[in-house]
Amino acid sequence: MSLIIAPSLLSADFLDLRSELKRLEGEKDIWLHLDVMDGHFVPNLTFGPTVLKGLKSASKHPLDAHFMVTNPDDHLEWFKDLGLYNFTFHWEAVTHHDRLIQKAKSLYPSVGISLNPSTPVSVIPTYLLKKIDLVLLMSVNPGFGGQSFIPEVIEKVQELNKLKSLHGLTFQIQVDGGVTDKNSAQLFAAGATNLVAGSYVFGEPQKNYSSRISSLR
Ligand code: DX5
Ligand code: ZN
Repeated sequence: MSLIIAPSLLSADFLDLRSELKRLEGEKDIWLHLDVMDGHFVPNLTFGPTVLKGLKSASKHPLDAHFMVTNPDDHLEWFKDLGLYNFTFHWEAVTHHDRLIQKAKSLYPSVGISLNPSTPVSVIPTYLLKKIDLVLLMSVNPGFGGQSFIPEVIEKVQELNKLKSLHGLTFQIQVDGGVTDKNSAQLFAAGATNLVAGSYVFGEPQKNYSSRISSLR
């Protein structure tokens, strides 16, 4: 499986999104990471389906949506015609995880569970790990781009990777928050297969995003 870099559009220029997407056009093995925030689950608001409508036709990269919302069940429906590839919801926001996963699997090719930095890997039972396609380990407290990486998350990546091998599973291990060239090698070595990077990629002064993506790899 190739290693994925997922530039987070949260740090892109929304007034000139088409040009930003063009700068990512030639890249291989990247996902476009979309941070949906509701002002309740996290203290910030971003975008919803009205704003993201049409994104699918403007880029060939898979759309990876990370829902930091209290009601992901409703969002399943609201986003279902946008051509999302991956739907990730937060474990902490949900009571009936199994039911939500079943529903999400019927609407999206890939379904993920996200854990806040303080939520242990052990909350996800093995039988659910077998049903999902991705686990997102947050390495900052969700809500904002540009925060500092929490290094203890590396141990969570190792722990999750052990479980993955033990049960012969193939889900992606995605890490999100404060990812830079200073921690990417360690994260990949620990078992991460997919790194989200917002400010590190889009903060490149010359807008040479390709150089930042390759330095993460
Ligand atoms: C934070 C979001 C991240 C954010 C990462 O809650 O989930 O995806 O965009 O931004 P950086 O890479 O700047 O930490
Ligand atoms: Zn995210």
